[in-house]
Formats: sequence, structure tokens, C-alpha cells
Amino acid sequence: MNKLIVANWKMNPSSESEAIQLAKASDEKGVVVCPPFPFLGAVKNALRKADLGAQDVFWQNPIPGGAFTGEVSISMLKKIGASYVILGHSERRNYLGETDEIINQKVKSALAFGLKVILCVGESLSTRREGLSQAESFVKNQITKDLKGIPSSVISSKSLVIAYEPIWAIGTGKADKPEDSASMAAYIKDFLKPKTSNLKPNVLYGGSVTSLNAARIFEHQEIDGALVGGASLKTEEFKKIIKIASK
Ligand code: PGA
Repeated sequence: MNKLIVANWKMNPSSESEAIQLAKASDEKGVVVCPPFPFLGAVKNALRKADLGAQDVFWQNPIPGGAFTGEVSISMLKKIGASYVILGHSERRNYLGETDEIINQKVKSALAFGLKVILCVGESLSTRREGLSQAESFVKNQITKDLKGIPSSVISSKSLVIAYEPIWAIGTGKADKPEDSASMAAYIKDFLKPKTSNLKPNVLYGGSVTSLNAARIFEHQEIDGALVGGASLKTEEFKKIIKIASK
């Protein structure tokens, strides 16, 4: 599969046995399954072809551990078999107060200690209403802050994936127009491209992706895949999305 499909289960499902079933149904090469922390081990055991990702990580990585109540370290995630972590999701930015500074620390540590990062960015509805170029400036500013201090060789490597997720499209059933997200993806790749090479980071689209709109999203070359929330919890629906992405 040329595209990368990330299943962001958020705070679902409600039991380990459901998580295992869901993992088995999602187990394809090119898929990254991101369950909640308590199911990481069981899901890893159920996967043969897909990669495992976490939905968050702490920015300090003391080994063997440290006095950080409630936090999970990069080393712990790697030991359990995770190779990716989602950072900067708008649900964490908006409801849990994650700032660009916090996200920047997490991105830096995760990349330094060997986890691949799926960095989520995206504008609000009011910004988007001001126009696509306002949205681009907002996203550029977010990415610049979140990637501060990270060498361009790391940014253009396959260790970093940007997920463009306009906030107003997440969980609303109102996906962005594919041509608009494709132009945003091209814009992101262009400003992140190092001056000395042609390598560009992969950019995914996220926000109400379903089997009905996936083909129109994936036909744009600039879009390297999708971050799928709600539809990744429905086995038949998610299988259809994977199939479309494999064409
Ligand atoms: P959604 O969620 O596919 O349910 O819109 C996307 C996301 O938040 O990752």
C-alpha cells in the first residue's frame, strides 16, 4: 500500500476483547493502529502486519523511570512494541491544554529516542472562514513552533509524518474538500522541504474520512494517507478504507 492509514481509536473500545477483534480486522501493511494505553500489549500481540502506535507520550524519558504520576515514557512504549506516537491532536490541544511548547518537547524527545511521530495540526472553523491562505499561515505557525529545534534532516526523514486535520472536520461528518486538503498538503511539504534536498515529509489528511470519501481524498498525490477516527472503530468500514487506499 502506498498510503499510510492511521487508526486513532481515541478512548475506545470498551474492552480488551473488542480491541483484539478490531486489531485483527485492521491488520494490514501500511496501517498504524493506535489504541488507548491499557490495550497496547494485547493489540501488539494481535498484529502481524500493521504497526502499533500510541496516542500520547511524556516528554522526559528517564530510564528506568521517574516521579511523573500518570505519565507513560517513550521507553515503555518502545518496549511494548509501539513504533509510532500521535502528538498534538486538537482534542489534547483544546480540552487538555496542550500548548505548542509542550508538543514541541514531546516531538523532540520522541524523535530523539526512536519513536516515529504523527504530528497533528489544523485550523479552527473561524480561521478557515477567513480563507485558505489564513489557514495556511495558521498551520505554518503551528508546525514551526511544534518542530522548533528539530534538524531539517529529521523533519524530511520518514520518522515524521504530519497529519493535517482541520478541527471543524474532526468527528463532524463534514470532511474538507479533497482539493483544499491537497493544496494544504502541498503547501506543508513545500515549506518543510530542506533547501538542500528534495525529500519531503509525508502529509496525511484527517477529519471525517469514510469509505465514501476516501477515494476522492487518496486520488490526490500530495496526500500520503489518512488519520481515521470514528470509521476506524467499524471493522467493515475500515477494511473498505484500507482497500481503497491499496488501489
Ligand atoms: P474522525 O477523527 O475520523 O472521527 O473525524 C479524526 C481524528 O480525530 O483523528
